[in-house]
Amino acid sequence: MEQDLRQLQADAETNLATLDNLKDLEEIRVRYLGRKGLFTSLLRQLGQVSAEDRPRFGKLANKIKEELEQKFNTRKAELGASDTGAAGQRDDLSLPGRLVPFGRLHPVTQIMDEVCSIFVDLGFAVAEGPDVELDYYNFEALNIPLHHPARDMHDTFYINDSILLRTHTSPMQIRAMEKEKPPLRIIAPGKVYRCDSDITHTPMFQQVEGFLVDRKVSFADLKGVLTVFCQKMFDQDDIRLRFRPSFFPFTEPSAEVDIGCVICRGEGCRVCKQTGWLEILGAGMIDPEVFKMVDYDPEEFSGFAFGLGIERIAMLKYGIDDIRLFYENDLRFLKQF
Ligand code: FA5
Repeated sequence: MEQDLRQLQADAETNLATLDNLKDLEEIRVRYLGRKGLFTSLLRQLGQVSAEDRPRFGKLANKIKEELEQKFNTRKAELGASDTGAAGQRDDLSLPGRLVPFGRLHPVTQIMDEVCSIFVDLGFAVAEGPDVELDYYNFEALNIPLHHPARDMHDTFYINDSILLRTHTSPMQIRAMEKEKPPLRIIAPGKVYRCDSDITHTPMFQQVEGFLVDRKVSFADLKGVLTVFCQKMFDQDDIRLRFRPSFFPFTEPSAEVDIGCVICRGEGCRVCKQTGWLEILGAGMIDPEVFKMVDYDPEEFSGFAFGLGIERIAMLKYGIDDIRLFYENDLRFLKQF
């Protein structure tokens, strides 16, 4: 038995010394030390050895096995350092490394962050609310009762009679005013949903609501805040704003706000459809009826509110004429930002 063990060790060592690649090494390792290898089958014969000699042979077998394993490992390390691979060629260490692609923020997210940080610098706090909203907050508390024709302005996705996907961020006016007493200065960014799709409309888009409530707040304050915002957002100190009379049930008076086209600076171009003006938001003085819904005294407090569409601002900033490009997930488009 001892002779057989020593012979097997010698054979394995000869093989180890002559092989020159990792593939052969693994084959030989399995042949000698594998579960069904030569060493294991020799060990099975240990049962036939007399009980007296068995411990001595057992000990010897373990020692030889350990030595062989050690030698296989050493040889593996040597070959690993110099293995030339399947094609018989060495790796070219002078090749440049593979570039790891960097992720980046979606262009609409970048604009959203910029818009929010301008308002935060102006002293507004940020509040967030649910995308799945109660009809009460989205419409009723904003002075849009059931069957009011203004509901037609929003093509609403209803979940049931009283629950819907919010169509604008204005419900946050009510949620915030229910919680806090004036003075308030809040922006509420978030996703909103309307059954609407063409080159300037998407079914999901993002808005930032802004509102300020205090004593003696006037339309001039609204104009001041929006002017500073547009100057910073479009990096133009001489930017022009135009307030066009409009209608929202929750503001009175109401306006839609246009800015002088940032692309052609008012001269007329494709983006502003030759008018020199671009609409960016809706705004107005908060209607006394809304204050009554949250138990604010309209004789004591006044406030303004505005809601702007983030994708529209992104379109203006980047000169993009189809809003749907933002949500097609085409990397060739997204990589440009
Ligand atoms: C509103 O949603 C009002 N809640 C805004 C408001 C707030 C008025 C506070 C007064 C006081 P409007 O439906 O006009 O208003 O939408 C506001 C902005 O969202 C629009 O100027 C436009 O920029 C953007 N917008 C509207 N619909 C879509 C759409 N389907 N896709 C992309 N942007 C849209």
